[in-house]
Amino acid sequence: MDIERLKQLAGITGNTNNLITMKSVEQEMAERQRERMKNVMREEEAERVTLEPLPYSLDALQPVLSKENVDYHYNVLSNGYVTRYNNKEGDPKFNYGGAKLHNLFWQQLKPAKEKSELDGPIAQTIEANFKDIKGLTEALIEQAKTIQGSGWVYMTATGTIKTTPNQSFQPDVLMPIDMWEHSFTDYIPAADAKVKYIEGVVGLINWDAINRRVEAWD
Ligand SMILES: [Fe+2]
Repeated sequence: MDIERLKQLAGITGNTNNLITMKSVEQEMAERQRERMKNVMREEEAERVTLEPLPYSLDALQPVLSKENVDYHYNVLSNGYVTRYNNKEGDPKFNYGGAKLHNLFWQQLKPAKEKSELDGPIAQTIEANFKDIKGLTEALIEQAKTIQGSGWVYMTATGTIKTTPNQSFQPDVLMPIDMWEHSFTDYIPAADAKVKYIEGVVGLINWDAINRRVEAWD
């Protein structure tokens, strides 16, 4: 086989048209690379997290959670996950999970003095799985006791109680309860601190907020 045939098979014909084609490919690849980078930057921008404003005052959860506890937990700790994630400091998965879980936690509560009727779809789910709120509370307590170290106990949209370690966000989290020690400092050093804290927090749940999550679930 002669050299010209080999060049032909390799796509090398030596004419200037091919050089133009090669340059176009390089330009095309560079353009695509720029587009991919733009997409990545857009995604990162979209994935920025925010600290959602508390829908009540810092002292509204008393006597279940003290003003001091909520102030530190929300303004310092919850805010810290958001800030570190957005500033790309530390472990992004940990901080992203911390930001998302805490937002869900704070937004699902209502002032201690306000009543919240259990109705809508979540009422049916709770009745079917736990009979009533007392049953739900007992299931949450039972699961929370299995957490080794720090983590969260949560209910899914279908009424399953699960736990997740540290700040590991899970896609099936509907109603998370923070089980890090910083959450229940108001109840320490009582031996049943976790039990009293969970009982109190369940009493603060805004069931309308939970129903809105259920209805938005896809
Ligand atoms: Fe927390």
